[in-house]
This record gives sequence, structure tokens and C-alpha cells, in this order.
Amino acid sequence: MKKPNLQVALDHSDLPSALKAVIEIGNNVDIIEVGTILCLQAGKAAIEYTRKLYPEKTIVADTKCADAGGTVAQNCASAGADWMTVICCATIPTMKAAAKEVKEVQVELYGDWTYEQAEGWLEAGITQVIYHQSRDALFAGAAWDDTDLQKVRILIEMGFRVSVTGGLTIENLQLFSGLAVYTFIIGRGITAAAEPNSAVQLFQAEICRIWGQTK
Ligand code: 5RP
Repeated sequence: MKKPNLQVALDHSDLPSALKAVIEIGNNVDIIEVGTILCLQAGKAAIEYTRKLYPEKTIVADTKCADAGGTVAQNCASAGADWMTVICCATIPTMKAAAKEVKEVQVELYGDWTYEQAEGWLEAGITQVIYHQSRDALFAGAAWDDTDLQKVRILIEMGFRVSVTGGLTIENLQLFSGLAVYTFIIGRGITAAAEPNSAVQLFQAEICRIWGQTK
């Protein structure tokens, strides 16, 4: 099974702290995300600076876009993002309009969505989804469980590249063992760690251990 990618989510509320964090760890993650919080605070500059720092990395703008997909995507792409996210309740025309402007669109799965909708995303040419445990649901006591794992499994079987995110830790990565997860997206587990670069090394090592890969 291919080693899942490690993606860091920069969910900072100001640009200087986000840049400080990314300079420390950027070289050691596979994908860099300008998180939703940072997009709302300083999106364009955050994408531009991240691109200048990491010309070769895949950069995602986590816009969770619901409408005006083409315009939002054009803005993200011109700032330097490769991929952007759209929310699962956005219309197919919004997703298609976004997909014309960026290299790839990822559908963020929150709340209610159906496998029938997911078939529609595949038909529209969108092959990446992000299975998300909402930060607020986690704060309210939710936890990863078998229902989540079953949904991730079905989405993979449908043909999606599935990223997983929301409150992930070194300890709970093991839950996904046996699943061909495409990417683990980690925010606070890296950026709020006492030593973010050590946290990155530990996440990478644990992913390699569980997925039986050295690289
Ligand atoms: C919140 C997000 C976060 O960027 C993502 O879930 C990672 O966050 P954390 O690891 O801190 O829970 O998309 O909407």
C-alpha cells in the first residue's frame, strides 16, 4: 500500500506566525495547506509567500468554497495555489468552474452528504475528497469511530483519493491502518507542538511504520 502523504494545515490567525511555522517544517511535509482560518485572515498573501518559500511543493488553499468557484479558484491559482477545497454542498457547476482554474479541486465532507452526490463529483472529474471530523464537533466530544472508517473505506472503493483530517494525533493514526488513505492533514498536532519539526518527524515515522514503507 502506498505511503499516505503528510500535509500540514496552517490554521494561524495571522500571517507572521504562519510563516514562522512553515519555514520550520515546510521541507519535511509533502503538502502545505493554507488553512481556512488563515485564508480568511490573509489568504492571498499567505499563498503568495508560501509559494515563494516552496516553489516545488503542492500548496492547497483550504477555501471550503461554496459559490463563485471560478473566481475564487482563479484568485487562488494566481496567488500560487495548486489545489483548493470546495464544500460538499456546493453545486456541481461551482465545483466544475473551480476545477477549470486550479490543478485539482478537493471536496470537503462535512455534515450531510450522500454517495449519490459523490458519484456526481466523480462524473464531474473530481477525484479527491477530504473526510473531516469537524474541529467544533471534536470540541463538543465527538471522536473518530467505525462509522467514519467505513465511510472512508467506501469512498476509497468508489475511486476517490481520500484525505483524512480533524484532531489527528500520532496515537490515533493507527485507526486508519489497512486503509489506502491518500493524505493525513494535520494542523495543531504539528503547529501547536512544543517542537513542530520533531512532531513532523514522528508523524512521518508512524505513517511509514503503519503503512510498511520506508519513504
Ligand atoms: C479545519 C481544518 C483543519 O485545517 C484541519 O482539520 C486540521 O486541523 P487539526 O489537525 O488542527 O484538527 O480544515 O476546518
